[in-house]
Amino acid sequence: MDAPAPNAANAKAQTVGPVPTGYYRWEPEEDDVLICRAVREETHDVKTFVFAPRHKRQFEFVSGQFLTFEFEIDGATIHRCYTISSPPTRPDTVSITVKRVPNGPVSNWLHDAFQPGMMLKATVPMGEFSWSGMQATQYLFISGGSGITPMMSMTRSAFDLALISDIAFVHAARSPADIIFRDELDFMSRRNRSIRPTFIVEKDGPRDAWSGYRGRFDDSKLAMICPDFRDRVVFVCGPAPFMRAVKTTLKEAGFDMSRYHQESFNFDDFTEEAQEQIADAAEEIDSGVKVFQLEFTKTGRTIECPEGLTVMEAARRAGMRLPSSCSKGLCGTCKSKLVSGAVDMKHGGGIRQREIDAGMALLCCSKPKTDLVIER
Ligand SMILES: Cc1cc2nc3c(=O)[nH]c(=O)nc-3n(C[C@H](O)[C@H](O)[C@H](O)COP(=O)(O)OP(=O)(O)OC[C@H]3O[C@@H](n4cnc5c(N)ncnc54)[C@H](O)[C@@H]3O)c2cc1C
Ligand code: FES
Repeated sequence: MDAPAPNAANAKAQTVGPVPTGYYRWEPEEDDVLICRAVREETHDVKTFVFAPRHKRQFEFVSGQFLTFEFEIDGATIHRCYTISSPPTRPDTVSITVKRVPNGPVSNWLHDAFQPGMMLKATVPMGEFSWSGMQATQYLFISGGSGITPMMSMTRSAFDLALISDIAFVHAARSPADIIFRDELDFMSRRNRSIRPTFIVEKDGPRDAWSGYRGRFDDSKLAMICPDFRDRVVFVCGPAPFMRAVKTTLKEAGFDMSRYHQESFNFDDFTEEAQEQIADAAEEIDSGVKVFQLEFTKTGRTIECPEGLTVMEAARRAGMRLPSSCSKGLCGTCKSKLVSGAVDMKHGGGIRQREIDAGMALLCCSKPKTDLVIER
């Protein structure tokens, strides 16, 4: 059922003039289905998917936030997060821009099977990787590969609003053919001189030789492309090794890291960290650390979790597959009901206080404090 128009009260009080048309916000708790309106090819392995709600609704989000989608592929339900690449200034639709990942079930299904007219379920926009609320006027965006999407949303928004923010936008790609949104960034920079894109590529493409910056991101390129980087707020997104290199370069150049923000799309860092946790936990078991029993009511399994390990890692270690996407307490995919027991949960915004009060927890970032019974 449609909610009352937000301007209904004002409309009653008005005696003259047209009643302003209110808008309805997209509320996934009322209807979480989005329809694909268009599919656009960006590069040979990157596509943009444009979505609208089933009923006339507008999206409310801040640039840099992501949606978690639910996919039914080969009989399995899978969740994945995708950053909104469109800006909040164009609220009738949202776009996501997806790079094919070799052997990845979802990215390949989207590229090969997903068509305009098809539908997907999605959650409310989430995430805190955003310039929203910041007072800075000078930014340095550094992205690699599909990590361009949050920066693109911010840049499109700055363009639409004719903001005077000075944006130095450095994007790294494998070859000229892999540069996502190249034409649009060039177009925006021609129309608004405060948007300054620079591309760095590793090698020539099959058809185009590259005369711009070449190789990996490093201190000498940083100094040439953006000599005043120390005065800026920096946003970085890309593959884990790329972000590590950028972070090290900035740190060694004396950048004030309190103005550094990063977002990771892949789990390599998490996996490394998890491997260390698992190794530590194994040692701890030997050295007599406390071990909790985790009982899963739906699968009927009970596993052991050494103190200090998350429920998700303990499950993985025991060969159980629990639903997860971000693995960082952001997306809510792993949200589960704790039937009994207590956890230490350090989440990143993927759960609401009222859900915590109702006994829910995000298993990817919850460490047991007692034995647990979990509805899974
Ligand atoms: C907060 C968040 C935002 C994201 N936004 C985007 C986005 O805007 N665009 C996008 O294409 N993807 C994005 N991703 C990644 C996306 O959720 C999927 O992981 C990706 O599409 C691969 O899914 P898959 O099922 O095909 O393969 P999976 O089985 O999920 O992944 C297979 C392997 O590829 C690695 N991998 C995952 N994503 C990438 C990637 N983008 N580039 C290189 N390696 C990767 C994984 O670490 C894993 O080792 C985001 C992820 C998160 C957590
Ligand atoms: S997997 Fe995203 S919050 Fe746990």
